[in-house]
Amino acid sequence: MFVNRVLSGMRPTGALHLGHYHGVLKNWVKLQHEYECLYFVADWHALTTHYDTPEVVEQNVWEMVIDWLACGVDPAQSTLFIQSRVPEHAELHLLLSMVTPLGWLERIPTYKDQQEKLVDRDLATYGFLGYPLLQGADILIYRANLVPVGEDQVPHIEFTREVARRFNHVFGREEGFEQKAEAAIKKLGAKRARLYRQLRTRFLEKGDADALAAARELVEEAQNLPLGDRERLFGYIEGGGKVILSEPKALLTDASKMPGLDGQKMSKSYNNTIGLREDAEAIAGKIRTMPTDPARVKRSDPGTPEKCPVWQFHLVYSDEKRRQWVQEGCRGAKIGCLECKQPVIDAVLEEQKPIRERAQRYLDDPTLVRSIIADGCEKARKQAQETLREVKQVMGLNYS
Ligand code: TRP
Ligand code: SF4
Repeated sequence: MFVNRVLSGMRPTGALHLGHYHGVLKNWVKLQHEYECLYFVADWHALTTHYDTPEVVEQNVWEMVIDWLACGVDPAQSTLFIQSRVPEHAELHLLLSMVTPLGWLERIPTYKDQQEKLVDRDLATYGFLGYPLLQGADILIYRANLVPVGEDQVPHIEFTREVARRFNHVFGREEGFEQKAEAAIKKLGAKRARLYRQLRTRFLEKGDADALAAARELVEEAQNLPLGDRERLFGYIEGGGKVILSEPKALLTDASKMPGLDGQKMSKSYNNTIGLREDAEAIAGKIRTMPTDPARVKRSDPGTPEKCPVWQFHLVYSDEKRRQWVQEGCRGAKIGCLECKQPVIDAVLEEQKPIRERAQRYLDDPTLVRSIIADGCEKARKQAQETLREVKQVMGLNYS
């Protein structure tokens, strides 16, 4: 039976904050009730950018798992594991690399973007170029069909689909498929045969979607060909034959509505975060000192909530009635900013109460987390090994 399998990973590069909770983890928790879910710590992916500070990765792995558990990710429903403890990911990554055109990796936008953004790091490495292929291996090895990710990761999922298609094309052919397809091309007539070959090459080597569409159209129009031959020609453009690796879909997570303390998106690099398990007093202090509408210099100056980051917090945490209280109080200079912030402080701390409580169990007994991960790794490995066995079979590696 076909099951929807969800897989997602997170890089252990820093302490998690409210942005992760509202943007990612709440969604993970929801999905685990609907699908079979696998969630993992992408420690190898973290090393592609943090290879010169391995202590960062080391410190954040277990803390991150505790954060997941604290937010309600349930090991009884989801499989939780660490990437590097399922070495099959690396083996599949290597095997996939044999059929992955360099150009496909070079033109993925994150490759150049991140190199330009993270100027203080040398990312002209083999490992960093291969980042999306490792991600592809993470996904394909579990035959996951749904991958919850943010917008920026969509090209990686698209790329993974292309790799799967190409793999199936190269290694999933029917007996004699290639010869049959080649014979069918000849039946197209010299001119159309040449065009078909050109388009096919353009698609296979550069992933050119227009070439794929044009080639399909060409086959569509070759009405005089026997149906079997047309089917082969369709398949031959991009694969055909057996599907060994299945193509995943991105499950787009809504952009997090969670603002940072300064009104920009909450992010470690903007230094505007509220940690998931940060000390309650520290959080209250951060909110009390966060900027407000600059027009409100004195208590008696009216303000505009839309120009104030605190208002954005009210949009996340307050009901209609309290929002109205803010709107009227601010515009009419009837409330002070500290007064306005107090319900936000209360709401954030209230939200974190169960998170803190759940985390405490794991902080008190670290062996609990270790055993959850050990179980998860074992379960994940079994599934990964199954896929890898088939991959090795079709790649001619199962000789004795
Ligand atoms: N690249 C992802 C990110 O930066 C993390 C990740 C690694 C991932 N492997 C994955 C996400 C597989 C989904 C599926 O957020
Ligand atoms: Fe911002 Fe509230 Fe102060 Fe208005 S009253 S400026 S919304 S903190």
